[in-house]
Amino acid sequence: MMDHPLGVALIGTGFMGKCHAMAWRNVATVFGGAHPRLEVLCDMPETRARDFASQFGFARASADWQAAISDPAVDVVSITTPNGLHRPMAEAALRAGKHLWLEKPMALTLADAQAMADLAAAHPGQVTILGYNYLRSPAFQAARELIASGRIGRPLSFRGVYDEDYCADPGLPWSWRMTHEGGGLGALGDLGCHLVSQMVALMGPVAEITAMTQIAVPQRPSPEGPRAVENEDSAFALIRFASGAQGSFATSRVAHGRKCRLQWEVQGTEGTLVFDQENMNQLWVHRAGDAGFSRHLTGPDQPDFAAFCPEPGHNFGFNEQKVIECRDLLRAIAGGAPARPDFAEGLRIERIIHAMAASQGQPVRIEEDLHEAA
Ligand SMILES: NC(=O)c1ccc[n+]([C@@H]2O[C@H](COP(=O)([O-])OP(=O)(O)OC[C@H]3O[C@@H](n4cnc5c(N)ncnc54)[C@H](O)[C@@H]3O)[C@@H](O)[C@H]2O)c1
Repeated sequence: MMDHPLGVALIGTGFMGKCHAMAWRNVATVFGGAHPRLEVLCDMPETRARDFASQFGFARASADWQAAISDPAVDVVSITTPNGLHRPMAEAALRAGKHLWLEKPMALTLADAQAMADLAAAHPGQVTILGYNYLRSPAFQAARELIASGRIGRPLSFRGVYDEDYCADPGLPWSWRMTHEGGGLGALGDLGCHLVSQMVALMGPVAEITAMTQIAVPQRPSPEGPRAVENEDSAFALIRFASGAQGSFATSRVAHGRKCRLQWEVQGTEGTLVFDQENMNQLWVHRAGDAGFSRHLTGPDQPDFAAFCPEPGHNFGFNEQKVIECRDLLRAIAGGAPARPDFAEGLRIERIIHAMAASQGQPVRIEEDLHEAA
């Protein structure tokens, strides 16, 4: 961890802005090292920035994101703004010599994500990390270790879903999120990319995808009258992994009753693992010959749990995942383990979700260096 404090700029104070702020304030308390200097909080209008600078404990407020990024007291920038601002803000931060914590998805289009990954590669001294927080939970890290150690044998298949219902009401007003220009992809960019991040972490690189997408509510009400929804409400995919294993994948933002149903199951030659983010403190494990599944309750035997709490069963939470993500970023800046997923790894996730959006029932090969991705 860092032994000298880094200066932080945080852009955005919505759902993820608050989540990043809590992580920046807590990371040294949980993991040790120097407490970051919370230098600039940026949002629009300036009154909002000022209110949240005071609430979040930042020294200064700004409504000018370019000034916040180029501020000489700032070493690292957290970007938690809508998807369409990710590319300009991330590129400005890289060009200004800053380390970068960017929310998912990387950008609106695959071409944008490619350009961002290229620019990051041209700045190898600067660390990038993407907000794939579900990779950080102790139960998920434990599952990854169990698979890597061969505990369920050779993985044969992955079955994953990520469903929410935030667009299930057809009366929900039209918004920029439902356009290619404002939101990019729909359910795949919002939710599916998280499931892909977990899927490839558990199963390795994807070789081929066949997918279908659906717009369930083609028009939504707006003050100007009904407006068209451009991006997918749901998507289904069949997957062939480079290892030869197979997978199924589904995501929806119109799934009534589902709040954060990020669920997957990995079946191997010697056992099965089951996880559900809505019950994120439980990992279910079956080994061949067992009578049923055993519940592995989150506790200090799982990675990173003990830094928060000495006792099992006292439950780990969504926002704590972000504290681990922040630790991973600081550790990489200090020269420790690389931050993952960085922009290069994030680009692979983008390739997969954009291939799903483009497939329309036809197989799409994922062209990448599979050895590098493994
Ligand atoms: N990792 C996760 O689990 C997760 C969860 C939700 C959202 N996200 C991602 O986080 C990002 C933000 O989503 P959110 O739900 O926090 O959105 P939000 O609407 O709650 O917050 C966005 C913030 O950006 C600010 N903003 C907009 N334009 C700005 C500008 N020009 N300058 C400064 N600030 C500006 C807004 O005022 C607002 O505070 C999205 O990319 C989304 O995909 C990630």
